[in-house]
Amino acid sequence: MEEYWELSPSRIVKELSRYVIGQEKAKRAVAISIRNRWRRSKIEGAIREDIIPNNILLIGPTGVGKTEIARRLAGLTNAPFMKVEASKFTEVGYVGRDVESIVRDLLDTAVHMVRSEKSEKVEEEAEQRAIDRVLDILLPAVDTEQKERMEATRQKYRKLIEEGELDDKMVEIETTESTFPMVEVFSPQGMEEVGFNFQEMFSDMMPRKKKKREVTVDDAIRIFMSDEIDNLLDMDEIIGEARWRTEEMGMVFIDEIDKLIGSEGEHGPNVSRQGVQRDLLPLVEGANVQTKHGMIRTDHILFIAAGAFHVGKPSDLIPEFQGRFPIRAELDPLTAKEFRKILTEPENALVKQYQAMLLVEDIDISFTKGALDRLADIAYSVNMSTENIGARRLQTVMSTLLDEIMFDAPDIAPKTIKIGKKEVDEKFTELVEDKDLTRYIL
Ligand SMILES: Nc1ncnc2c1ncn2[C@@H]1O[C@H](COP(=O)(O)OP(=O)(O)OP(=O)(O)O)[C@@H](O)[C@H]1O
Ligand SMILES: [Mg+2]
Repeated sequence: MEEYWELSPSRIVKELSRYVIGQEKAKRAVAISIRNRWRRSKIEGAIREDIIPNNILLIGPTGVGKTEIARRLAGLTNAPFMKVEASKFTEVGYVGRDVESIVRDLLDTAVHMVRSEKSEKVEEEAEQRAIDRVLDILLPAVDTEQKERMEATRQKYRKLIEEGELDDKMVEIETTESTFPMVEVFSPQGMEEVGFNFQEMFSDMMPRKKKKREVTVDDAIRIFMSDEIDNLLDMDEIIGEARWRTEEMGMVFIDEIDKLIGSEGEHGPNVSRQGVQRDLLPLVEGANVQTKHGMIRTDHILFIAAGAFHVGKPSDLIPEFQGRFPIRAELDPLTAKEFRKILTEPENALVKQYQAMLLVEDIDISFTKGALDRLADIAYSVNMSTENIGARRLQTVMSTLLDEIMFDAPDIAPKTIKIGKKEVDEKFTELVEDKDLTRYIL
């Protein structure tokens, strides 16, 4: 935990650069915001409560890394992270999700995250307990005395199980199932408005039915393990930790914020859009949100909003809203040179993805420098001559280039393929010259 929390701004930028090419201004801005949160957490006293997070507004055209930066940032800092599309929300009282559900979802993410971290720690213990339960079935004993006398045999079987020798042996196990019939509960505001889960509540009250099942030893261990993990985990502790992480480290990424621009005095969708901005204000400013695990304060949750702002400008957002996103970072349109890097340099870059997929088929594919340069140029010029969809263009270009190989792979494997500039030109010359074809295919 601490190690993520303590990343310096330069380290954050460096880590982000493993995935995102260019966009240094935006990387710096997010790095400073994250560091400021940590700085704040180290301050004692009343001043700490007054330091508000530096919410960020990322402005830039489509496909240049806005979402990518936020996504990688969350992964890097191990913070609970939620990405929402602003256009999905509607004003309170209208049909649609209300903005407070963001916080509930964020907390759920945190619970899930902490739970799986803690599960890892108890996994070994749970496995031993699960094996014990399987041994009890394989070597039934009437009492502990008999069980003790069988200890040597149990040890022998334990070893066999651990080595996987008994994986396929069938055993009869008893599983408990809730007898509560599956019903969905709807309220006018939708499930999340209720603040707790009916299903969970009722299934705890209903008698559990025991059911005998024949399963393999392997499956039995898996089933018992998840049971034992539940027994070993301290849910209160998990929720406490998740609440802390949500309130102190939580990050909410609001995409398509520019879709909330509407003008005063209009009716219909525009009114509702401004309404969503107003609904978001308290959340961003700091509010208490009721969740199934108690109140969550949103004061220190970091909000990152992003938008292309093709039509409107940030100054078209309602003033209070603009004020709550004091840090602006512009992302630049990507150049052909950056496309060239994006193809190969990021961790799990597009070219590496294709290589990995084809390797599964026993095909070893490589690209010459000339081919990669050419691909980047093609993506760039198609963006210029048709619609600029940023780095996403690389995906359509690559899939067009490799279409045949992806289809034929199983039939031609094993094979070593080298793609040079010539192969790229053969595939694209006609396509790129014919504007109509370009529009449809690339
Ligand atoms: N600067 C970059 N470095 C590396 N990869 C990038 C970069 N920009 C975009 N990509 C790639 O393009 C894809 C789309 O980028 P992203 O989702 O960040 O777009 P966006 O800026 O959020 O656009 P939109 O406004 O349409 O949401 C990403 O999945 C990523 O693979
Ligand atoms: Mg995006």
